[in-house]
Amino acid sequence: MPTRDLRHAAVLAAGALLLAGCEGAQSTLAPAGRGAERIAVLFWWMAGAAVVIWLAVMGLALYSMFTRVEPSNNARAKFLIIGGGAVVPTVVLGVLIIFGMPLLPDLVASAPEGSLKVEVRGAQWWWRVRYLGPEGDAVELANEIRLPVSEPVQFELESEDVIHSFWIPSLGGKVDMIPGRRTHLALEPTRTGIYRGVCAEYCGTSHALMGFDVVVVEKEEFDRWLRHQRQPARPPSEPVAERGQQVFLANGCGACHTIRGTEANGVIAPDLTHVGSRLSIGAGTLPNEPDDFHQWIAGPKRVKPGVLMPAFGMLPQEDLRSLAIYLESLE
Ligand code: CUA
Repeated sequence: MPTRDLRHAAVLAAGALLLAGCEGAQSTLAPAGRGAERIAVLFWWMAGAAVVIWLAVMGLALYSMFTRVEPSNNARAKFLIIGGGAVVPTVVLGVLIIFGMPLLPDLVASAPEGSLKVEVRGAQWWWRVRYLGPEGDAVELANEIRLPVSEPVQFELESEDVIHSFWIPSLGGKVDMIPGRRTHLALEPTRTGIYRGVCAEYCGTSHALMGFDVVVVEKEEFDRWLRHQRQPARPPSEPVAERGQQVFLANGCGACHTIRGTEANGVIAPDLTHVGSRLSIGAGTLPNEPDDFHQWIAGPKRVKPGVLMPAFGMLPQEDLRSLAIYLESLE
């Protein structure tokens, strides 16, 4: 390929990559929530202003390179220093503040009284999610949040160990989760779809493996889903899943995990009552398939370094397989 065509191809590829970066399940530039829309508006205005300033500075630089050197002129030097060093930055920052400040109240406001309430607690390295009912009744799940579209939702955020940061880039801004304190965030999804949430504050070895799925659906579908999540787990219907349940209970998994409807009622690890219905396992690290469950249970530290869950690789392969099939059946 001639050099010129190569250059064209490279420019096209770079452009395509840049545009692709604006799409996806985890992009502030493809907003799917009220907060994210505001943030995107602010971003584009700031990016536009930055381009204008960059062009002006480059223009001045080129002008100085290609004009004849003139004798030093104190008055002009002062004008440039005061103008470029004080007046222009003050005007630019002033305009940005005047434009940006009115966007803020919406970003930090609470959802109206009576809105859906979700409590999320960050832990190394997963998310405990509780849907709070109007009568104080709660249903607990982990690493997945479902929301009804076009309805405000109030998040109550806490941490179980160190500082984490709760962020769903497609829906809105991020808020820190601080041990011993409760912080708040109101979001309102505007489009159905599957988005990705992340921890945005370094919190230890596997900080980058602390994700969650956010599924925005129509209100009726959301209500149906939440009703189902409140139900206890269905008893296993196949012999292999039944054996998996025995393996689960006999090996002490229930000391850390809860499966409502069984005697497993541990509270320090993720609730597994409907784990089979989630999109991923290990807080967004593996797809939710029997083989991945098998891999996770046999050696969780190979997938997520530093994780508290002990490995169960010493169990016979057949036991691991039935355990994976049992967990997968918990829809
Ligand atoms: Cu939790 Cu980073």
